[in-house]
Amino acid sequence: MGKIERVGVSLDEELLGRFDALIGKQGYANRSEAIRDLIRARLDQQQLEKSSTEAVAAILLVYDHHSTNLTSKLNHLQHNHLLQIIVSTHVHLDHYNCLEVIILKGKVGEIQKLADQMISLKGVKLGRTNLMTTGKDLA
Ligand code: NI
Repeated sequence: MGKIERVGVSLDEELLGRFDALIGKQGYANRSEAIRDLIRARLDQQQLEKSSTEAVAAILLVYDHHSTNLTSKLNHLQHNHLLQIIVSTHVHLDHYNCLEVIILKGKVGEIQKLADQMISLKGVKLGRTNLMTTGKDLA
């Protein structure tokens, strides 16, 4: 972390009031920490727009347990990608549905490609990818 600088920001009273109410509800101890988090989130979002950015991600899939060969297709895709799969967890949700959570690390473009291939498989009902940078460039 670099040197700390103090900045003054002019804000509309109503806007600031709404911000204070929001961060109060979220549990922030002060505005500074909330503003730092907002800045980090915006910088992270901007970094993730580049497909070459190193990121970590969780891919969540809800799929039909009875769908033929789906588990082996999902495994096959994980073996075929140049991504570092950190962990993959399977949860039996009910008689029909399974949840698979795949946590991985790699370039944004590669992660999105793998996620798209998984989500588009027949039998996958819901799919979601949550991406963020590793945080190494953020103070
Ligand atoms: Ni299952």
